[in-house]
Amino acid sequence: MVPWLFLTMPGLCYNAVMTASSHDLHGTTPGSEQDYADIQGGGGPSGALPLVYGHVDPNVFPIGQLQEASRLAISERAQQTLNYGPSLGNATLRTFLRTRFARCEGLALEPSELLLTAGVSSALDMVVRVFTQPGDTVLVEAPSYHDALTIIRDYPVRLASVPLDDQGLLTDALAERLEHLVRTGERPVMLYTIPSFQNPSGFTMSAVRRDQVIDLAAQYRLLIVEDDVYRDLYFEGPPPESLFALDDDRTTIRLGSFSKVLAPGLRLGWAMGSAERIERLVNSGLIQSGGGANPFSAATVAAFCEQGWLDPHIEQLQRVYRQRRDVVLGALEDHMPRGVRWNRPGGGFFIWLELPESVSSRAVLQTAERHGITFIAGPSFYAENPTDGERYIRLPFSFVPPHELVRAVGVLAETIGDLP
Ligand SMILES: Cc1ncc(COP(=O)(O)O)c(C=O)c1O
Repeated sequence: MVPWLFLTMPGLCYNAVMTASSHDLHGTTPGSEQDYADIQGGGGPSGALPLVYGHVDPNVFPIGQLQEASRLAISERAQQTLNYGPSLGNATLRTFLRTRFARCEGLALEPSELLLTAGVSSALDMVVRVFTQPGDTVLVEAPSYHDALTIIRDYPVRLASVPLDDQGLLTDALAERLEHLVRTGERPVMLYTIPSFQNPSGFTMSAVRRDQVIDLAAQYRLLIVEDDVYRDLYFEGPPPESLFALDDDRTTIRLGSFSKVLAPGLRLGWAMGSAERIERLVNSGLIQSGGGANPFSAATVAAFCEQGWLDPHIEQLQRVYRQRRDVVLGALEDHMPRGVRWNRPGGGFFIWLELPESVSSRAVLQTAERHGITFIAGPSFYAENPTDGERYIRLPFSFVPPHELVRAVGVLAETIGDLP
């Protein structure tokens, strides 16, 4: 057992802290982010080293503490823990979260503005179901998280994408697109964005762009769905204030999760939004019939948080992932041929590689797979024009151990260098 797993420190706010089968991977519909659950701890199904998945490293799950927290949950509050949960979710955990948002972000949330969910995926599914009508248009970033695109596509809505750069969504392009959609009789109703340490690019939306997005949303009466799943995993300093925090009119629903900061198997997260919108979610059939999200997990996480274990754990994750990012950046610097470009993400799990003009990510993938390296080629992250992603590779550094990351970068570099 790693000693730091048992470290307990006062609940500091750490502001100062510095199976996809291989043929799937060639197409624009890769395996889901979760397929790897079947094969954790080893190579991919073919023994390949997977740069496919943006997963938490299972070696950093706080297993001992979660064992103790689940024991507390079931021994001290068994009747609550094993019953249907209250509609908004476990009250202790919601209070803990509200206190933490106030302490870490200066964000004051009314109890009616916070709902526990079964993670971002489930919350996004619920939000699209409840707040869109057939034929509405949902705007997404290009590129965007491919599994979120699949969730949105499960509903009879249209997708319209807006490009981004290293400062986040291009707001001029967003304005133009909105104007065009409305002029051509479309109904843009929702914008799905991942503003902090984005998946797949690692980019973070600047404060200026955040304000502009909020203004445009107000102008076009768009519901912003802010997926902020990586917010706490920053390496140098926290990202700018969330769209939700900046948005005085509460036209944003912000989604968060314990998946990246604790363990995805808990299936637990939260949604914050206006009391009216949260009420609409609570009144959906899912919660009416099944009760609030995952009471057993929520009681376990509540006990974990009450012990003061969450913030030290997050600080540890920040150190682990920062080190991995730096290892990859160093390897890229050492090995990549001229013409390949990449960013230096300030947090999260991903680096976005841009290939020289003549090189396609699918060609790199085909050769790299023969050398035991798999990844998702850029086109999968583009909702409308997959060819826009032809020259990009998503490089996740969260899951694979550092020495393997270095090997993978070496193989990629050699492959790219050898391509005509
Ligand atoms: C941007 C983004 N949103 C959501 C998820 C999934 O979150 P959850 O496990 O809470 O459903 C991921 C996981 O990869 C992600 O990268």
